[in-house]
Amino acid sequence: MKSQDYSQGDAFQTEKRTVFSTQSLPLCAEGQLARPGDFVSATVGGWSVFGVRDKEGAVRVLRNACRHQNMQVVGTPAGNGESFRCRFHGWTYDLQGRFLSAPPPVAPKDAQSPDLHLASLPSAISSGIVFFSLAEPPRPVDVGALPAYGGTLVTEIACNWKVLVEHLLAEHTPSADFTWAWPLLMVRRAGAVTIMEQVVPHTFLRTRLFTHVFGGKADDNRQAAATIKHVCETLQADRANGKPAAEGTLVDVFHGQLAEAYAQDRPTT
Ligand code: FES
Repeated sequence: MKSQDYSQGDAFQTEKRTVFSTQSLPLCAEGQLARPGDFVSATVGGWSVFGVRDKEGAVRVLRNACRHQNMQVVGTPAGNGESFRCRFHGWTYDLQGRFLSAPPPVAPKDAQSPDLHLASLPSAISSGIVFFSLAEPPRPVDVGALPAYGGTLVTEIACNWKVLVEHLLAEHTPSADFTWAWPLLMVRRAGAVTIMEQVVPHTFLRTRLFTHVFGGKADDNRQAAATIKHVCETLQADRANGKPAAEGTLVDVFHGQLAEAYAQDRPTT
């Protein structure tokens, strides 16, 4: 990895095309969408999406792009609602993303057109996590039986997403107690507790960490998440200044997969 791959938007655009457009990506824990109307929105690798549970109990992942002028319909990271009203001009959608109504001055000519519905993305729930994909149906990730979902901590970190992935992979090797689902999900088992650390690449210098806790309480992991934030914000400065990541089995695999992805976009890299 070059220092600019951690600090400039060009690399993020390459990753959007070659990694995030092609892979199964985690969006949230199914437990975050426990009730009808629950939603979680995020920008994952440059793709603005949201997951929602409808009144029949089905979970969908929808593009967070209004059919009127392509603005974000959902402007909050999580919540519960009966419908989604776009903040900009008031187009309104139901919990399945179907167009419901619009104020007369901005109403579409054909309110029955299916083109007015929010775009639905291929999605699947696997091992308690909602996955989506921009391309193929998401591949299932099976980490075996899980204890009961105990909650999710959300931590905002001022670093490039690769810094966080490297930090979460360092010092681990694949084992019964540690699974990495390329590119964004790490699963750790510690006795009766399973922790899934989900990396959300929001922008090239803003990354969100979801710490999903199964078999324990999310709050018990608050200090650990704060430490990850502190370490990664320090490491971000190191990477931007050209100090390479520490080598390790899975970090090397991560860099190898990234190099392969970059090669699709930058043949001379
Ligand atoms: S962009 Fe959503 S209503 Fe205009």
